[in-house]
Amino acid sequence: MRATRGHGAGAGNVAAPAPRAQDVVGAPVLPPAAATRAVTGMRGWLARMRRGLAPPPVQILESALAGLEPTVLRVLCHLDVPDRLASGPIALDTLADELDVDRERLRRVARYAHVHGWLRLDRRRSLRATRVTRFLQRDHPGGWRAWVDLATAQETNAATAALPEALSADGDAFAAGNGQAFFPWMLAHPEAHATFDAAMAAGARMHGLLLARSLEWSSSQRVCDIGGGDGTLLGVLVAVHPHLHGAVLELPEVAARMPPREKVTAVAGDAFQAVPKGHDTYLLVNVLHDWDDRAATVLLQRAAEAAAGDPGDGGPARVVVVDTEARSGPSDDISLRADLLMLALTPGGRERCADEFVALARAAGLRHQRTHRLGSGDLALVLEPDPSSRRR
Ligand SMILES: C[S@@+](CC[C@H](N)C(=O)[O-])C[C@H]1O[C@@H](n2cnc3c(N)ncnc32)[C@H](O)[C@@H]1O
Repeated sequence: MRATRGHGAGAGNVAAPAPRAQDVVGAPVLPPAAATRAVTGMRGWLARMRRGLAPPPVQILESALAGLEPTVLRVLCHLDVPDRLASGPIALDTLADELDVDRERLRRVARYAHVHGWLRLDRRRSLRATRVTRFLQRDHPGGWRAWVDLATAQETNAATAALPEALSADGDAFAAGNGQAFFPWMLAHPEAHATFDAAMAAGARMHGLLLARSLEWSSSQRVCDIGGGDGTLLGVLVAVHPHLHGAVLELPEVAARMPPREKVTAVAGDAFQAVPKGHDTYLLVNVLHDWDDRAATVLLQRAAEAAAGDPGDGGPARVVVVDTEARSGPSDDISLRADLLMLALTPGGRERCADEFVALARAAGLRHQRTHRLGSGDLALVLEPDPSSRRR
């Protein structure tokens, strides 16, 4: 029988943060949500000021040439420059000779990278690492380098090039550019899928830690992560709260290659068909934004059915939805970019604001308990089965 569940946010019940954030995400602290919000707002304002100070032709040229940014980042990573700077500064000419590339051409790339903060190039033509360089190193715990691979992959470029296709109501830019919708295409291309999983795992490490600290877990025992990728998030969660056991519900191909993790099991299935019962917490992390409202409601319905449980098995479970928080107006932040990425990669996926999630949840028979704003800028909505909707 499942434990009786009370899922208040009581700070006194939050377990000690072990392992340390430094080991999980490569940063000593995760900022509080209010700080993230304030800094994001300030950065957006400064970016508008910066743009506004340029005459329109310069603004157009800067935007038209912005595509060079990910390309240069990819070149740096492919030349392994971040790792070569790991042991200390290195003379640009020495690096050029080691890489067997032209010194002056490398200097031009390094100058561009310096302006973007990806490394530092000083007057004596010496290169050194910045905070960002360290996050791009292969062995950085955060794993964000995978996003450079994903964002600059051929299939992503093909999807973004086909973005006009996504503007019709049922358009799918990824399918138009690659011949198949995103998830089926990924399943047919295991190498690309591994890159996708690695990029997802970077966010999952951070979300695992944030959820471990923001939600109350002392009355939980069994957690199911619906569409939980390679199990990274649950791995972090059970490491911080060792009394928990986790199950990752994933597509059979993804479940089959999930790396073994202590106290985390892989469950092969289709979340649109059924979600396994018997858990006290169901997570949907960065999953709903892959789908249009109709499909997202079906996923929430399946989660609600599982969370309602069977009579006598310990009461309803909670459903926790984590996704980027969209702003109602335009705002120069990650959610704006993520929303466009969803437009390019998915058939109808989008970022949503808190009210939109609550409306979807209601349509799926879930009632909203509370919303946590996470230091990552994401929302964590805690939902529970609505008994009145089951009677309807
Ligand atoms: C955007 S990823 C998010 C992964 C993970 N939750 C995270 O935040 O890192 C969406 C995940 O949903 C999984 N998925 C897609 N369709 C699914 C389905 N029908 N049933 C179960 N999982 C599915 C994908 O394989 C993928 O791992």
